[in-house]
Amino acid sequence: MSEPLSARAWFESGGAPDLGVGRASLVRMHSIYERRGHLTVGEIGNGMPFVARRFFVISEVPDERIRGEHAHRALDQLLVCLAGSVVAEVSDGTANRSIVLDVAHVGLHIPPMVWGVQRDYTRDAVLMVLASAEVEAFEERFARYCGTRHCVGVGNGLDAMMLVLRAWGVGEGHEVIVPSNTYIATWLAVSYAGARPVPVEPDPATYDIDPGRIEDAITPRTRAILPVHLYGQAAAMDAIAQIGKRRGIPVLEDAAQAHGARHGGRRAGALGDAAAFSFYPTKNLGAFGDAGAVTTDDDDLARRVRTLGNYGSLPGKRYVNELKGFNSRLDPLQAALLGPRLDVLDEWNARRARIAKRYLEGLAGTPLALPAIGAGNEHVWHLFVVRSKRRRELREDLEKRGVGTDVHYPTPPHLQAAYSDLGHRKGAFPISEAMHDEVVSLPIGPHLTDDEVAYVIEQVRAAA
Ligand SMILES: Cc1ncc(COP(=O)(O)O)c(C=O)c1O
Repeated sequence: MSEPLSARAWFESGGAPDLGVGRASLVRMHSIYERRGHLTVGEIGNGMPFVARRFFVISEVPDERIRGEHAHRALDQLLVCLAGSVVAEVSDGTANRSIVLDVAHVGLHIPPMVWGVQRDYTRDAVLMVLASAEVEAFEERFARYCGTRHCVGVGNGLDAMMLVLRAWGVGEGHEVIVPSNTYIATWLAVSYAGARPVPVEPDPATYDIDPGRIEDAITPRTRAILPVHLYGQAAAMDAIAQIGKRRGIPVLEDAAQAHGARHGGRRAGALGDAAAFSFYPTKNLGAFGDAGAVTTDDDDLARRVRTLGNYGSLPGKRYVNELKGFNSRLDPLQAALLGPRLDVLDEWNARRARIAKRYLEGLAGTPLALPAIGAGNEHVWHLFVVRSKRRRELREDLEKRGVGTDVHYPTPPHLQAAYSDLGHRKGAFPISEAMHDEVVSLPIGPHLTDDEVAYVIEQVRAAA
């Protein structure tokens, strides 16, 4: 690392802003000196290189503490030291530079993909960090969390699927393979793309789509396979991805219920060609209202989904409409809320897993069929679903005992009036139909206390 450059000395010498590290630069904030002191003005376009949506102030940093130590995928930051001094290092993997931020009227712009570290805070240092949009910050973090190149925030989970299908050119006259056992949103996404959902039965052990039955459902019209990671457990994605590859059909994960789940060590969101997430408030990662996202490694798909969700016009290219798009964008307020929740997602999922383990142990030996974990899976237990031959009585009894239950879901999509046009009759998908008659969801969530879990086990054992 070369000698640190003092921002004050740089300002006084009138040096060039370019630091030779990516697009990192020093920024002369507009400032006025006069008898009454020093006035610094931040103005977009005039010193401020991006639209700041948030600012952080870092102060009272103990000796030796280092902050930063990461690069952002899509976020711009401007570091301005308001008092004291801080040493900031930037690196783009080949070049690096250290700058002593020691004046309030010089900012350090750290653009996306530049690594930044801040150290050697003086005791009186007050560092202001201005950051660009929440949506980009969340997208970048969620992509990193899932292990994909891109995350595109959209309005909700249903839109996320529909936009990917449309971006792939799926439409009229096409078919998409879906599970017969899912929430109806999976099917609706296919319908809203203009295509026909073709149901495939689940593996009765895991409740997820049975990969062994997928190939029989493929026809020359099949344009996508849409497995669902139901209840928080990834579908058998190795097998499904192989079928997709062999047949040249892209795979879209419906990961609405599986934030953080893993299959073969990789996270949901990175198991197919693209994935759709819902951040509806009840999900493992939930916002305060509707929100969703698409994750993918495919640069072109990410661009097309973003374009389609933004009236068909690329952000930054207003009033230029490439496609007949929709209005489905991630609300910045929801993105701001999702950030802190992503911080605790793993902890909350681990809490769900501990509860599930206690249920599995505590309910063994009852007449209930308990959920199974598929090979290579790390389940995130969005729901804990058991099966009972006497569901109605069980639920009524548990209700009296103060244990609330639910049914996910009482009627499979093929028997809903909404899909009567497809002409599926009762008995067409017997595995799903039997499941829909028997499933019961027991209480699960990070908020449950150990005593509550023990109570549920005791009452379910007595009622089952
Ligand atoms: C499996 C599944 N897919 C898709 C969705 C749709 O997500 P959203 O409600 O965000 O549109 C849901 C939501 O409940 C779901 O459970």
